[in-house]
Amino acid sequence: MAIPAYLTQHQNRFLEELLDWLRIPSVSADPKFHGDVLRAADFIKDKLLEAGATLVEICPTAGNPIVYGEYMAGPDRPTVLVYGHYDVQPADPYELWTSPPFEPVIKDEKIYARGACDDKGQVYMHVKALEMMLRDGGLGAPCNIKFMFEGEEEIGSDNLGIFVKANKEKLKADVILISDTGILANDVPSIEVGLRGLSYHEVEVTGPNRDLHSGLYGGAVMNPINALCDMISSLHDENRHITIPGFYDNVAELSAAERAELGQAPFSEDEFEQSIGLPAAVGEAGYTTPERTSIRPTLDVNGIWGGYIGEGAKTVIASKAYAKISMRLVPNQTSDEITALFQKHFESIAPAGVTVKVTPHHGGEPVVTPTDSVAYRAAAKALETTFGKKPVPTRGGGSIPIVAMFKSELGLDSVLLGFGLDSDAIHSPNEHFGVFNFLKGIETIPEFYREYAAASN
Ligand code: BES
Ligand code: MN
Ligand code: MN
Repeated sequence: MAIPAYLTQHQNRFLEELLDWLRIPSVSADPKFHGDVLRAADFIKDKLLEAGATLVEICPTAGNPIVYGEYMAGPDRPTVLVYGHYDVQPADPYELWTSPPFEPVIKDEKIYARGACDDKGQVYMHVKALEMMLRDGGLGAPCNIKFMFEGEEEIGSDNLGIFVKANKEKLKADVILISDTGILANDVPSIEVGLRGLSYHEVEVTGPNRDLHSGLYGGAVMNPINALCDMISSLHDENRHITIPGFYDNVAELSAAERAELGQAPFSEDEFEQSIGLPAAVGEAGYTTPERTSIRPTLDVNGIWGGYIGEGAKTVIASKAYAKISMRLVPNQTSDEITALFQKHFESIAPAGVTVKVTPHHGGEPVVTPTDSVAYRAAAKALETTFGKKPVPTRGGGSIPIVAMFKSELGLDSVLLGFGLDSDAIHSPNEHFGVFNFLKGIETIPEFYREYAAASN
């Protein structure tokens, strides 16, 4: 398909506007950015209005506001609820960025900034797609579109959950559309048809009532850091299976046919290893690398600390050791069930001489989205039109906690029409988003509405 003339004419302005938005450090995890989070919400509210949304409001919550907007095409049209998030991950460690995270630059056809891909760049595609459809002389939007952009996705979406439950009428729609995931490669379009859930914990191991001289006491006390390391290493066996009793009880095993179908997606083990500088990929026995990061549950330590980490050497046995441990979940595990199993197990494996406290953080449920729906087919056709290639379904490894709730509370399926790449370094230093991907998104979204409206009639 030829790229729409409007997009070519206005792409530089679209990019400049996105860069303006990316300059606002809307980090939800750190209260010191609260004012910026509010400014980022205002910014996108104004842009939705400029693009032609007829009703746009900032909906306050107990935390960060939700930006809600509407464009109503007519009562006979299907309604699509677009969800995204304007909050971003903290940018630390700043020194590893080659250009500052909130001073966006376009280099080698990529937009570098925290939030460029996750998720401001992808949210902005939706706003510009609306502008493109509603511009003077444009074809108009063939669907009713509701926009809901939250500011707390990166911290668990608790307040959005409350908002969704309280606003079921307002959010009435036929399907949810989300651009907060990725494609396999720029010449391999794909649609994620699943997300993993999450169970996240902080653990604290306490030994002696004060830090001790390791010469005077070492050998006679259980060192909490040693104990924590032993406990953590016991969580996997030699096959990289997770050892928590009952952990796999509810895991949905895919049939050989389902695995073969997902295995169709092109994947190179060498490229995977090279792209992240690894001598070898390692994971659960009996599964391929793409399976390990999508249809299988996992457990990872996200942070570990305690004792002396300053310059030089200090001979000390710390009183306490800590870690943050998370598990990615797959159907039909539930966050509550796994949280309870983890807590019980981790406390039970504490060796003599230490006590253990487990504090659960936010969680999220896994989801699988249908491939036999009108909306999935519309998304597949839209991608086929703009990429010139049929997309393959893939199962994603990340989590978007609200998606399961859209299903359970609103009865709505989601279509994950994302345009990022695994190499975009989301959550990492030097996050970026391809200009190609940004523009492809803007080009594809109106095609989705066109296909969806046509098929819904
Ligand atoms: N957009 C990501 C999730 C994602 C990325 C899904 C790529 C699939 C492909 C989202 O913003 C995210 O980072 N989610 C968090 C969970 C949240 C509760 C902090 C995650 O997956 O760690
Ligand atoms: Mn995201
Ligand atoms: Mn994220």
